[in-house]
Amino acid sequence: MASGLNNQFCAIIDFGSQYSQLIARRVRENRVYCEILPCTTTASQLRDLGAQGVILSGGPCGVYDDDAPTFDADILDMDVPVLGICYGMQVACQAAGGQVTASKEREYGDTTIFLNETDNPIFHGCDDRMQVWMSHGDRVNEISSDIVPIAHTENTPLAAVYDAAHRFWGLQFHPEVTHTQDEGKILNNFLYRICRFSGDWEIQDYVSRAVAEIREKVGTDRVVCALSGGVDSSVVAMLIHKAIGDQLTCFFIDNGLLREGEAEQVCEVFGNQFGLDFRFIDATDRFLERLAGVTDPEAKRKAIGHQFIDEFREAASQFKDARFLAQGTLYPDVIESVSPFEGPSATIKSHHNVGGLPEDIDFELIEPLRFLFKDEARVIGKEVGLPDEIVQRQPFPGPGLGIRIVGDVTRERLQILRAADAIVQEELLGWSRFRDIWQGFAVLLPVRSVGVQGDQRTYDCTAALRIVESTDGMTANWMLPPQEILARISNRICNEVQGINRVVLDISSKPPSTIEWE
Ligand code: XMP
Repeated sequence: MASGLNNQFCAIIDFGSQYSQLIARRVRENRVYCEILPCTTTASQLRDLGAQGVILSGGPCGVYDDDAPTFDADILDMDVPVLGICYGMQVACQAAGGQVTASKEREYGDTTIFLNETDNPIFHGCDDRMQVWMSHGDRVNEISSDIVPIAHTENTPLAAVYDAAHRFWGLQFHPEVTHTQDEGKILNNFLYRICRFSGDWEIQDYVSRAVAEIREKVGTDRVVCALSGGVDSSVVAMLIHKAIGDQLTCFFIDNGLLREGEAEQVCEVFGNQFGLDFRFIDATDRFLERLAGVTDPEAKRKAIGHQFIDEFREAASQFKDARFLAQGTLYPDVIESVSPFEGPSATIKSHHNVGGLPEDIDFELIEPLRFLFKDEARVIGKEVGLPDEIVQRQPFPGPGLGIRIVGDVTRERLQILRAADAIVQEELLGWSRFRDIWQGFAVLLPVRSVGVQGDQRTYDCTAALRIVESTDGMTANWMLPPQEILARISNRICNEVQGINRVVLDISSKPPSTIEWE
């Protein structure tokens, strides 16, 4: 069985496509538990995992590239339905004796496909001509006699194929992206009509099963959890608390770089409302000492990261009887750290390890969200009773306001930024698109400029507004709130926050800019 705690299981074999995570999201939205596995996974491993359906993802390579990833072709003989998408279709057709060539007409973007036969179950309910999303250079141009074409485009005779003997379907286009206008029917057909999944993946059930699993794993031992107040560690703490009550001890390291009222809120929710065994560590002075005079962004991140590790070691050393450490690792972190070609590798973006833990810690890890996406973790948060202010919280970086103050991080400047940021948070709440905001915050710039306040000339700092939408933080677009909201933010900051007399709007997307300024 895979790690979905007793659910039916669909395997996604990853050839390195930027869309593999999206396939997994779509499959889970269809209430089928799935995991993304490296393309080195064998048919026998899939059998052991109990895979009831297999999806071969797309990938950036061509099948004839020197480093083109391959797969165990026995997967096609497993008597389990297989869906190959783009590169996944090409490697499977090639393994079955077909030919793939580099196409002269590269197809990229919206394309119309025409179904050759509408009664194939993969296209059940679909129109006989559909807009789909293509993104390929190579294409299958010859197939073995077992395989039949079931759809074509103007340039691609084999836009979709079917092999009844192997229960294999191949699609040259991407059904997982919303640009493919099938209303999700193709993936749904594959999962329900072809693989016969029953849709047993209910995130709510996950809670009771995870609780039972945690109880069994922990026994009578102690678990410690470093709470940050963010969604992931908060959900983990609540889930484990539900499982083992007072055997869980949480500690919260206040690095002094948090937003207005954040530390108080975390103490209130976990210490008072839910009555966890909760220890508050005020490390503000030590963090600020370490940051004194540090202005280079990387040096700042390192200073904050190293201080966090020192604090963590010190705190953890007080729990001599603890055997487990709880962490809020999510599935995207797991996928990001796994290379599709080699299995686990260390490819997590280095700066995101800042605020992470040392590798030599002497605990066994408990990571109950390891197979979940962020929105699934949020559902669990609600299920275990966490308030919306925590569950719906925007991502906040480990180094906190330290990387939103350009230049010296001092107590005074933190106070200025905190006040400005609180106004941004309050005013954005009134925007009808508030839920679409990935992150909206203020950045304090060391640029000083002249202003007038009453009869007084001022010479103060500048605040930049950074408001972006994004699905995963890897790319982002800047957002433009209505003028009234921008006006209120700007007026209030200039009038209420001493030390800022000018507000500017950051209109850069990622890439090329990053979301944070440092
Ligand atoms: P950038 O600035 O790289 O940020 O575009 C992308 C996303 O990651 C968050 N971020 C971090 N999160 N520790 C974290 O936990 C970090 O060191 C860190 N740096 C950036 C950032 O807020 C955005 O959501």
